[in-house]
Amino acid sequence: MIRVTAEHHPYDIHCRWGALDDLGALMRDAGLRGAAFVISDDAVGPLYGERALASLRAAGFDASMFTFSAGEASKSLETVRDAYDWLLEQRAERSSTIVALGGGVAGDLGGFVAATYLRGVNFVQAPTSLLAMVDASIGGKVGVDHPRGKNLIGAFYPPRLVVQDTSLLASLPERSFREGFGEVIKHGLIMDAPMLDVLERDADRLLAVEPELTTEIVARNAALKAGVVSEDEREGGRRMILNYGHTAGHAIEAVTGYTRVLHGEAISIGMMAAAEIGRRVGVTPAAVGERQARLFERYGLPLRHPGLDVDAVIAAMALDKKVASKKVRWILLEDFGRTVVRDVPEDVVRDVLREVVGQ
Ligand SMILES: NC(=O)c1ccc[n+]([C@@H]2O[C@H](COP(=O)([O-])OP(=O)(O)OC[C@H]3O[C@@H](n4cnc5c(N)ncnc54)[C@H](O)[C@@H]3O)[C@@H](O)[C@H]2O)c1
Repeated sequence: MIRVTAEHHPYDIHCRWGALDDLGALMRDAGLRGAAFVISDDAVGPLYGERALASLRAAGFDASMFTFSAGEASKSLETVRDAYDWLLEQRAERSSTIVALGGGVAGDLGGFVAATYLRGVNFVQAPTSLLAMVDASIGGKVGVDHPRGKNLIGAFYPPRLVVQDTSLLASLPERSFREGFGEVIKHGLIMDAPMLDVLERDADRLLAVEPELTTEIVARNAALKAGVVSEDEREGGRRMILNYGHTAGHAIEAVTGYTRVLHGEAISIGMMAAAEIGRRVGVTPAAVGERQARLFERYGLPLRHPGLDVDAVIAAMALDKKVASKKVRWILLEDFGRTVVRDVPEDVVRDVLREVVGQ
């Protein structure tokens, strides 16, 4: 068990092979009672919805489920409205609990509904994708996309509890599973260099979802993210290091329309750009970028995405909401496990992007 010790809203993360069957009991132990409303997508719901509902009912919850079409396109205010309609029909109350069962889309959407329905009801995260377990379900950021950009509407709304059943990763589509390793490798690069040895040595076992090791690595990553967000609940300082690779990564996602390149793939390319920029400005040793590249390759993650319009990528970076006072700030590696935040001359950025994503 991992505890997020954020000042106002501490919560526990339970990471275990088979934890879904204890969802109801864990919620009861966390002090939750009454009605539980599961929000899932139409890929995960049919696979695991009944197990979640059975566990909730066995623990005394009055439980039901709402499903939406799987995919990022559903992370919208339209789906939020459909979920509100369903909750109103079901007469959900302030004391009710919304359980997000699914990947990052279900978590972000379910969390946003929980934050806003009746000005906020209890919220539980039951992440089912690797990306959601090691990243999206921890830290309390919830929200939906706007036609003009991703994650533009949202809130900080920490869950009361996070229940991660690592056995569910076995049914995750291969590309989504590999994508999650983008964030895992990032965590190693920015704050847990010894984990990189494990990721190198045991890649075959991890890619085969071996129960014990998979659970150990997921829990280790959940603890890493929990540590950072515990220190910096609202993204004012230390949490910024989590954006390593995201400066170019977000821009690549935007320019490719959020569909062709998955988030974990985009940030891998973004980390390659950051490492090369860091090398050129004398911050990042060449060996760091080389080892990082070998790791991405080992997990089937891309190093480049040629064919993009570099000006469009730079424009997208300037638009990104994480730009502080109109300057693009780069998170760079000084070494494994050591980051710095730097302004970088635009010609260096442009040259590197030409190599990594240019035509
Ligand atoms: N809130 C945050 O801090 C945060 C952080 C990172 C990413 N995100 C968000 O997370 C989203 C991406 O998350 P994602 O990659 O999990 O996407 P996703 O929720 O769309 O899941 C990917 C696909 O895998 C399927 N799936 C998930 N778990 C499965 C399982 N166990 N078995 C079979 N199929 C399964 C889903 O149905 C979906 O088709 C993005 O919207 C991103 O913005 C949020």
